Amino acid sequence: MLYSLRMRAELKGEHVSGAERIVGATQIEKTIRGFIKRPRQYDKMVITLEKLESIEYIPRALPIKSYDFKRVEEAHSFAIQMLSKEGINKDIALKGLELLKRGPSPKGGNIRGAVLLDVDTGERLEPDPERGIRTVRFDWKNREHIKKLLKERGIKRFYLERLLDALALATKNIYCGVMAELCWSDDPDYTTGYTAGKNIGYVRIKPMKEEEVPFGGRVYFVKGNSLEEIIACLEKKAILIEGL
Ligand code: COA
Ligand code: AMP
Repeated sequence: MLYSLRMRAELKGEHVSGAERIVGATQIEKTIRGFIKRPRQYDKMVITLEKLESIEYIPRALPIKSYDFKRVEEAHSFAIQMLSKEGINKDIALKGLELLKRGPSPKGGNIRGAVLLDVDTGERLEPDPERGIRTVRFDWKNREHIKKLLKERGIKRFYLERLLDALALATKNIYCGVMAELCWSDDPDYTTGYTAGKNIGYVRIKPMKEEEVPFGGRVYFVKGNSLEEIIACLEKKAILIEGL
């Protein structure tokens, strides 16, 4: 039997930390101890433990490639080029980039999930654009092993945990029918972003924004006619990724 274990923490009503794992019964206590130590500061933590009725396995994560540029503009042009290989036209890709530059909230600023952008019309399809859609219920079958493999490939400590989470999330997204993803963090200290898709794999790109910019997010490029199945898969389907 496998369980979805999720943690979210708040400080003064603001979300400050989130994490999730899919584990067997013997790992539950250790995982919760790890969660409790995770946020630096919080005044409320919610931990959810849920028995999973079914699980699907993805044999391999998207393959990783990394590209460094001198300037944000060059990085963005490269991201547009990558997205075109997934069938996303330049105007729609530019719309995605513009949304992340100022934060995708209709009022400006970050949102709590990802934007769903219609690849044909450029329309936003999330039912609530202040919230977005979150990809949940995904993990590595053997997280420590994957971490070791990434270290052996020369991924530095600073990037390791983020890469583990973001690669797993992007792999699930593409499995669920998202055509391509564009992401950079809203963390002011973290300028590496990525584009992902089934042809291009997981393409890390630096710098996707200037240092100290507090805006970012995720754009999922989707076909409008498969919206309901995609959202159900992203939010509900439990996925374990087996290897790199
Ligand atoms: N950002 C901002 N607020 C969040 C949030 C997030 N990532 N996740 C949860 N919240 C807050 C929201 O207020 C949310 O209400 P909403 O649904 O109206 O937005 C509320 O918490 C309840 O969220 P819920 O979806 O019920 O939480 P959950 O128990 O299913 O847990 C997390 C979801 C926290 C595990 C998930 O959002 C997360 O952070 N995942 C792990 C990190 C990760 O891999 N992120 C990818 C980046 S690499
Ligand atoms: P992060 O990579 O954690 O800095 O998150 C960057 C942005 O991605 C956040 O501002 C959210 O808009 C979005 N996001 C965070 N978690 C998720 C998730 N589980 N699914 C979809 N989008 C998310």
